[in-house]
Amino acid sequence: MRQNIKEAIVTPQPVFIVATYDENGNANAMNAAWAGQVGPKQIGLALSPHNTTDNLKKQKAFTISFATKEHAAACDYVGIVSLNKVPDKMAKAGFTTVKSEHVNAPVIEQLPVAIECNVVSITEEYNETRIVGEIVNMSVDESVLTDGKVDLDKLHPIMFDCSALCYREIGANIGGAWNIGKSLMG
Ligand SMILES: Cc1cc2nc3c(=O)[nH]c(=O)nc-3n(C[C@H](O)[C@H](O)[C@H](O)COP(=O)(O)O)c2cc1C
Repeated sequence: MRQNIKEAIVTPQPVFIVATYDENGNANAMNAAWAGQVGPKQIGLALSPHNTTDNLKKQKAFTISFATKEHAAACDYVGIVSLNKVPDKMAKAGFTTVKSEHVNAPVIEQLPVAIECNVVSITEEYNETRIVGEIVNMSVDESVLTDGKVDLDKLHPIMFDCSALCYREIGANIGGAWNIGKSLMG
């Protein structure tokens, strides 16, 4: 028997750490799970009012770092505390930043992968601020590269489980995309 459940979930959801500057160059970061890649060159974010949302509207740039198992607590912390209430939020998280070489946004040094984006669209709809950023670069710590590609086995990215409200590790490679289906081609 199947059951009908009104509150649908989508899985996997990402754990994006969105980093921005305010008008004085102070760095902030927040956790965003209602977000994703929209085509090869763009990232979409669905945001409520936050310090980060204000920064995005003013600076029109952000970075997205993938949350990792090693820094899961810090990544959760920046999603439950606002810089509006805790001015030293980034220090408390243990995050330090450097300015992106490509956009006016901070790169979090403790998280090995950062996608650097310029905001290309801001839409107020469905009681949210929907932001689309165009990817201009990806900066990656060499420690998580294999043959010049990001190696998820080294990065240990985590996902948000919207059903159990927890974070999960991303698991093993179980077969090639556009490949394992070939076994059914006859
Ligand atoms: C797992 C998780 C996912 C979240 N996803 C989003 C999201 O997609 N959009 C959003 O507006 N807020 C989201 N938040 C809430 C913000 O990260 C949170 O309110 C944060 O403290 C805002 O920080 P700021 O005010 O310093 O910018 C999420 C929080 C958590 C813990």
